[in-house]
Amino acid sequence: MTAPLYAEIDLNRLPRHVAIIMDGNGRWAKQHKVKVALGHRTGTETLREIIRSSSDIGIEALSLYAFSTENWARPAAEVEALMQLILDFFASEIDELVRNNVRITILGDKAGLPAPQREALEDAERRTCGLSGLRLNIAVNYGGRAELVRAARQLAAE
Ligand code: FPP
Repeated sequence: MTAPLYAEIDLNRLPRHVAIIMDGNGRWAKQHKVKVALGHRTGTETLREIIRSSSDIGIEALSLYAFSTENWARPAAEVEALMQLILDFFASEIDELVRNNVRITILGDKAGLPAPQREALEDAERRTCGLSGLRLNIAVNYGGRAELVRAARQLAAE
């Protein structure tokens, strides 16, 4: 059996909040001479382990920067693969996340996503909103410029 990811972490000195920019999938794919889509899929496997471990050891909050507004400019096949990964991830993980008491919050503009992805994310938030374990924040369709525009619009509306 392999040791858990957190085997070398001092559990008495844990950060309360860990934030991860999901980077390096492309470099991994290049190194392994495979398509970038496989890099993203493999990265998502690691993500599963990170979420499980964070929940197991009692991290309060884990924030993941997954898909930025700039990422729409990537080649269509890559964007399509990423959108499919989002669907696959929630389809395969949501029951376990609920069982593990993980509370999911989506950051970013859900309204700008295709309907199936938007519904999967909203469903994940709905199903986990009362839960008291790990707070899992996932930034999807997020970006500094987009956040400023949204804040300005909200202020103007008020
Ligand atoms: C950076 O890789 C990573 C991304 C652009 C997307 C990461 C998002 C996912 C894998 C979607 C799944 C998300 C969830 C929440 C299930 P890169 O190609 O920029 O890597 P590089 O820095 O090596 O080039």
